[in-house]
Amino acid sequence: MGPGPSSSPSPALRPTRVALAVLLCAALLLSLPVRGAGERRRLACSTCRGIVDRFNQGLADTAKKNFGGGNTAWEEKTLSKYESSEIRLVEIIENLCDSSNFECNNMVEEHEELIEKWWFKLKKKYPDLFKWFCIETIEVCCPAGTYGPDCLACRGGSERPCHGNGHCDGDGTRGGDGSCSCKKEYTGQFCLDCSSGYFSSLRNETHSVC
Ligand SMILES: *[C@@H]1O[C@H](CO)[C@@H](O)[C@H](O)[C@H]1NC(C)=O
Repeated sequence: MGPGPSSSPSPALRPTRVALAVLLCAALLLSLPVRGAGERRRLACSTCRGIVDRFNQGLADTAKKNFGGGNTAWEEKTLSKYESSEIRLVEIIENLCDSSNFECNNMVEEHEELIEKWWFKLKKKYPDLFKWFCIETIEVCCPAGTYGPDCLACRGGSERPCHGNGHCDGDGTRGGDGSCSCKKEYTGQFCLDCSSGYFSSLRNETHSVC
């Protein structure tokens, strides 16, 4: 096409296009960080869960250490000393993350002092490390049946999210929006309605079977 008056947009159109482009960019900038933050929060919770799983595995792996299998007084004494020792803690902490797992190593490094504090002072009072560490202290997870930064109840309630007929978005994490993805038989915001082709065999305010 040659450069003619018909090939370029009329001057009146140009500001509209510019405005549209600006709007699109703004929309992108506004929507990306929000989604990114939610994803990061989910990842942080699964990282923390992984750390606690490995911690518990480490506890099991070191439980029988320094124990000859006999039952001498010497062994009893050595064992009980080792049980709550710094040596045992260090052995466990060394194995919490694969070396390639950046998020895991980062989280352990950042909160190593907290883990030590729990080990030496708090584990008797708060034996559930996941609850104490991931949910209540560094606040990257939520109790089951709750979601989001403030651990709000999932749709359908925290006891039976989605009325037991679906999965609550962000369940147990500081991410998500608490909405339901229903099993294929169910539909609706609360997973109480039957999908087409499925028929209700029981239905009240809190229970639905299709
Ligand atoms: C709804 O149905 C369930 C399952 O039969 C029952 O356990 C529950 O008590 C019922 N709830 C009400 C409010 O009737």
